[in-house]
Amino acid sequence: MHSNGSIPSGESSVNGLSNDESRRKPESLSPAALNLLGQIDNGEATIGVIGLGYVGLPLAVEYASAGFKTVGIDLDESRVDRLNRGDNYIDDLDDDQVRGLVESDLLSASTNFDACGDIDVFFICVPTPVTASKDPDTGYIESATASIAEHLRPGQLVILKSTTYPDTTEGIVKPILEEQGDPRGLTLGSDYFLAFSPERIDPGNEEWTTANTPVVVGGTTPTCGHVSQIALEEIIEHVYSVSNPKVAEMEKLLENIFRSVNIALVNELARLCDRIGGISMWEVIQAAATKPFGFMPFYPGPGLGGHCIPIDPHYLSWLARKYDFETSFITLSARINESMPFYVAEAIIGAVADQPIRLRDANILILGVAFKGNVDDTRHSPAETIIKLLEEKNVGSIRFADPHVDEYHVRYRDGSSRAIEKVECTPETVAEHDVVVVVTDHDAFDVEMIATSARSIVDTRNMLADITDPDLRERIHLLGGGDSTMTALEPIADDA
Ligand SMILES: NC(=O)c1ccc[n+]([C@@H]2O[C@H](COP(=O)([O-])OP(=O)(O)OC[C@H]3O[C@@H](n4cnc5c(N)ncnc54)[C@H](O)[C@@H]3O)[C@@H](O)[C@H]2O)c1
Repeated sequence: MHSNGSIPSGESSVNGLSNDESRRKPESLSPAALNLLGQIDNGEATIGVIGLGYVGLPLAVEYASAGFKTVGIDLDESRVDRLNRGDNYIDDLDDDQVRGLVESDLLSASTNFDACGDIDVFFICVPTPVTASKDPDTGYIESATASIAEHLRPGQLVILKSTTYPDTTEGIVKPILEEQGDPRGLTLGSDYFLAFSPERIDPGNEEWTTANTPVVVGGTTPTCGHVSQIALEEIIEHVYSVSNPKVAEMEKLLENIFRSVNIALVNELARLCDRIGGISMWEVIQAAATKPFGFMPFYPGPGLGGHCIPIDPHYLSWLARKYDFETSFITLSARINESMPFYVAEAIIGAVADQPIRLRDANILILGVAFKGNVDDTRHSPAETIIKLLEEKNVGSIRFADPHVDEYHVRYRDGSSRAIEKVECTPETVAEHDVVVVVTDHDAFDVEMIATSARSIVDTRNMLADITDPDLRERIHLLGGGDSTMTALEPIADDA
């Protein structure tokens, strides 16, 4: 499990990319660095994970499973209590594995930072949201770092994992640590260590897990990069070092913006296909994907969701503005993606209009309020905007069915919220509604049953692709399927 403690040869390769050049091996290591490497090597390092959410808990479980004593710290008492009872709350994790780690004392949780003095390697996995004006909110990172800094001692390593804009590690985290470290005579790079290593976890993805997904790391000094790489290699097969944290921070934003831009492209083309009629964007993408090089399929949908892709581009746009630079690609893709729930709401109203029923009497069933298939995370789900738009149009009733989500509240601008009624996805409930809207394509949905029971379906994910019976297909309005019901009445703005 643990390496032999020697400095790695630098021959690791990720996707054929050798890390020889970018990996900066320090010429010599300080006593604190050697001590930390020794503790990591013999499995005696204590791991601390700050923020036990979708990123933090799987990471903590990975280190605890590798035999490291792991302490999770979270301000959310309910998460801490559940974890200390051995009660797993993250879908992708194995309940028995979590319970076993807690029972064997390898994994524990706390709401306070008292244990920090005993922790050798910290991972900061706290939220990085945007403010109401879409500026970065690094407050969680600042407060978590300040709590760690109070307990700073020689031989500690801090790795920031939260997605953020370039220079957060060196411009925000580093000064907070130094404020406490300097008066105590501690020097960054020889006494304690700091790096940025972005998280790549993909909730719901069974093929690419924490262990087999390569990660990137950038240290604030060569020694910081080196000890971070060794610490990460304990649980991750391929760790790719870059020369500094800013490169790693920018790399993560590139990954997410790459998705945002490509999704916006297919969303725009899907709407064009609906406008032209008779061309299915889904078939177009399938055909393009036969090209073995230079093309990667992305799919249209009801709008972006989750913690990352709708948020991260704003982090970079904000930074760019500080440098009098406009990130036009990012802004345009965000605008197109953010318009998709409006397009879907209009299609739902169109599907009601096709029936002899008034909008104010129509019953709408939203299938899936999680932001993507097979996960329980509802943050920034496009379902929320779709529901609010339908409410604004005084639609009779809106319910949801989601096998992964028990409760769903829609939040309004004035800070209030409303619980949306949940129903089970049965033939009876599906048949009861005038329009059924596929917002999230969970595998658990019975596609055949939905297609045969529903009166009218707006499918934003092509979840009903296997339904070929022409009588059933007639009731399905597929986003990007070249269907006139989907067509927005307004032209796409030409100033885009
Ligand atoms: N969820 C993902 O799939 C994913 C993937 C890659 C990167 N990320 C990034 O990882 C970071 C964390 O995301 P997440 O989805 O795990 O968030 P999350 O909301 O699920 O978890 C964050 C946790 O941090 C806790 N917290 C907040 N402030 C704290 C503090 N000062 N001290 C201790 N705990 C604190 C919260 O109570 C919460 O439990 C974000 O920057 C996100 O963009 C998320």
